Amino acid sequence: MQVFREKEEIKKAIQKAKSEDQSIGLVPTMGALHEGHLSLVENAMKETNQVIVSIFVNPTQFDNRDDLEKYPRTPEKDLDLLLELLKDKPGDLWVFFPSANELYGDTVLSENFDFEGLDSVMEGKYRNGHFDGVGTVVKRLFEVLTPDKAFFGEKDFQQLQIIRKLTEKTGLPVEIVGCPILREKSGLARSSRNERLSSRNREKAAFIYETLKDVKGLFGTKSAQYITNWVEERFANYPYLKLEYFEIADSRTLEKINKKRKGNQYRAFIAAYADDIRLIDNIALDN
Ligand code: PAJ
Repeated sequence: MQVFREKEEIKKAIQKAKSEDQSIGLVPTMGALHEGHLSLVENAMKETNQVIVSIFVNPTQFDNRDDLEKYPRTPEKDLDLLLELLKDKPGDLWVFFPSANELYGDTVLSENFDFEGLDSVMEGKYRNGHFDGVGTVVKRLFEVLTPDKAFFGEKDFQQLQIIRKLTEKTGLPVEIVGCPILREKSGLARSSRNERLSSRNREKAAFIYETLKDVKGLFGTKSAQYITNWVEERFANYPYLKLEYFEIADSRTLEKINKKRKGNQYRAFIAAYADDIRLIDNIALDN
């Protein structure tokens, strides 16, 4: 495993790999790695020859300085986890660990993108400027690392669709691969924030996925409005979590739906708080 901090260094290595017909896979992360991230790395190792994991806590996607400062940074543990993963796998990993200056230069500013409304719903409504920040850093990473494929989790499904839109709009030649949500035994979606939950709340937060599974059961027999009311009431009667939003949306456009249309695919999305910890999850409703 090799760690690169400078973009010129990793660019040279990439050029060499490409000249030897190696395909490049990229897994962008903000570190504090857990099994969810590692599952993306495993997928990337199956599909490409040389995998790069980038670790960069991107300032432009935080709308709040406090959040940015509090974001967990565990670089040594991250490298240990990746080494552990490599133990019983053929192949190598490169880790790209840039500083803000290395990646952005002197001005750490967001670009403004037109994501055709994908960024104005759900997470976009509650996190001002967040997706412009994500788009800015991912575009930058694609330009520097020129991956053939990049791997993103369906855990952040809205982000995944926005990155697809980003590549469509910029014409950058990278294939975006969506990877399934990895869950704890209880069903709670894995997240670095789970570590901050009290053990009681960690148990109680399994309610989010239980609700999503029930929604999947109801979808098709009840209207989206009926299901939304049902979920809101269920959360109102559950003292451990505070619902921020529940939506049933078209998987491609992320538009809220009233009625099921033939041929379209749908997902249900939840954001909820356990004390001050914000959790998100989603489920495909069609399969
Ligand atoms: P981060 O939150 O570190 O997540 C990195 C990647 O891991 C994302 O694609 C996310 O969807 C995926 N991931 C997280 N938990 C997962 C789980 N339980 N199952 C499957 N995949 C999971 O998302 C970001 O960083 C940033 O916004 C980034 C794209 C790196 C841009 O800064």
